[in-house]
Amino acid sequence: MTKDKKLLVAAIKDGTVIDHIKAGHALKIIRLLDLANHKSLVTVGLNLPSRATKIKDLIKVEGRELTQEETNRIAIFAPQGTINIIKNYEVVKKFHAQIPDVVEYVIVCPNPKCITNHENMDSRFHVVEEKNKIILKCHYCEKSFSEREIKEYKNN
Ligand code: CTP
Ligand code: ZN
Repeated sequence: MTKDKKLLVAAIKDGTVIDHIKAGHALKIIRLLDLANHKSLVTVGLNLPSRATKIKDLIKVEGRELTQEETNRIAIFAPQGTINIIKNYEVVKKFHAQIPDVVEYVIVCPNPKCITNHENMDSRFHVVEEKNKIILKCHYCEKSFSEREIKEYKNN
């Protein structure tokens, strides 16, 4: 971090910083991780200036270290995101989320005829990467959707 540059979103003491999120994707990640119900501070920066991609989104979650399963869930919507674990104001871990093979439960199948939208059951999607694009294939109705087509989430 350049010391002479003022942070646009304040530093956190302990927790997780999800950085370099593709602009426009932070709100999906907030819903996916149910951060609105987080009991501690969550700060969000939208359309921040970024050297690599011009603009980016950023999320800082105080007091919570995201699990590997959670960061993998993010990867679907922010494959280029960086996860930073902060302890006592220092970055102690930095990694990229890995795109999981299967996503269960959190995504609602966009196909209105899909059985998962009519029965009380969890969704299940197989994730494939095609030409740098992420495709989710429903295990039940076998229809494929791009990440952009996924708009609904379930958290509980
Ligand atoms: N950060 C924070 N609170 C801290 C320490 C770091 O919010 N106590 C944030 C920084 O603002 C930055 C991210 O965590 O968004 C990663 O910090 P750092 O590795 O110091 O920044 P960069 O070197 O710019 O990271 P990168 O190389 O991943 O772009
Ligand atoms: Zn389906």
